[in-house]
Amino acid sequence: MHVFVTGGTGTIGTTVVTELLGNGHTVLALARSDGPAQAVEGAGAEVLRGGLADLDVLRSGAAQSDGVISLAFGRDYSSPDALAQSVAEESAALAALGQELIGSDRPIVTVSGTPWVPGRTSTEADPLPIDGPVGGRGRSVNALLGLASRGVRSTAVRMPRTVHNEGKGGFAGLLTDQARRAGVSGYPGDGTQRWPAVHALDAAVLFRLALESAPAGTSWHAVSDEGDAVRDIATVIGRRLGLPVEAVPQESFGPFGPIFAMDQPASSAHTRNVLGWQPTHPGLLEDLESIQP
Ligand SMILES: NC(=O)c1ccc[n+]([C@@H]2O[C@H](COP(=O)([O-])OP(=O)(O)OC[C@H]3O[C@@H](n4cnc5c(N)ncnc54)[C@H](OP(=O)(O)O)[C@@H]3O)[C@@H](O)[C@H]2O)c1
Repeated sequence: MHVFVTGGTGTIGTTVVTELLGNGHTVLALARSDGPAQAVEGAGAEVLRGGLADLDVLRSGAAQSDGVISLAFGRDYSSPDALAQSVAEESAALAALGQELIGSDRPIVTVSGTPWVPGRTSTEADPLPIDGPVGGRGRSVNALLGLASRGVRSTAVRMPRTVHNEGKGGFAGLLTDQARRAGVSGYPGDGTQRWPAVHALDAAVLFRLALESAPAGTSWHAVSDEGDAVRDIATVIGRRLGLPVEAVPQESFGPFGPIFAMDQPASSAHTRNVLGWQPTHPGLLEDLESIQP
């Protein structure tokens, strides 16, 4: 397939582009400036210049392709306003991409997060949260999945809290950044809350499998580690950076604080059984050993 990819220069997108190119697909990658354009071109993709807010460019990318993988999301998590702006931008982009594909039976794979369910491990059958700081993402993904009845093979690959590669990425990456700034490897709550995780190279395989074969309107869990205790994550970060490991107020983590404090294990049993996905790369705690002081 000729696949239009947004976010092809991110932690996940970089591996998705390589996975697609290594498995017989060609890639048209959105790039908003010279650096990202050179990066995706160097990987072997064709470049479509534009940003997530350029809806005509997005429609044109979808129209030129046999399928779409939508990964782009603003990188500024520093304030509730910045996060809300990114959610709104992604929502408009998904709506434009979905509209372009109506009646075509072509696939669009979007990214989402694994849901959390109090007292148990979440599964692919659980609904996405549609309230809270990222609730708008759940609503726009649900709208895209709803296009399954209008001739779009829309699917969602739900990410765990940390998608990592060489010790970087996701919530664990935010803990690492905060530790470097604060001089303390902090964790919110009592640290026994668990976050699921996956290696980006394993997640990339699942995006390809969903693009190639997942039925319209379905959701999948890219979960390798069902749940790593946050104190264990902070302990590896503290040891690698030579910093003390301590409980800190959840407010230290900005708009993500309440989410950071929650126990949110997730399963991928259904995804593994149905799509035959099998993660093979290191788990989070092992991968965090790559952090350099
Ligand atoms: N990593 C995780 O642990 C994790 C967990 C759950 C969900 N997710 C979701 O998975 C997706 C990919 O995550 P990631 O970790 O790979 O993200 P990332 O490393 O932060 O990369 C973000 C990507 O989006 C692009 N982008 C951002 N704003 C853009 C804009 N206005 N116009 C065009 N491109 C734009 C970036 O392009 P530039 O190179 O130009 O900046 C980059 O390619 C995101 O939707 C993220 O929220 C990630």
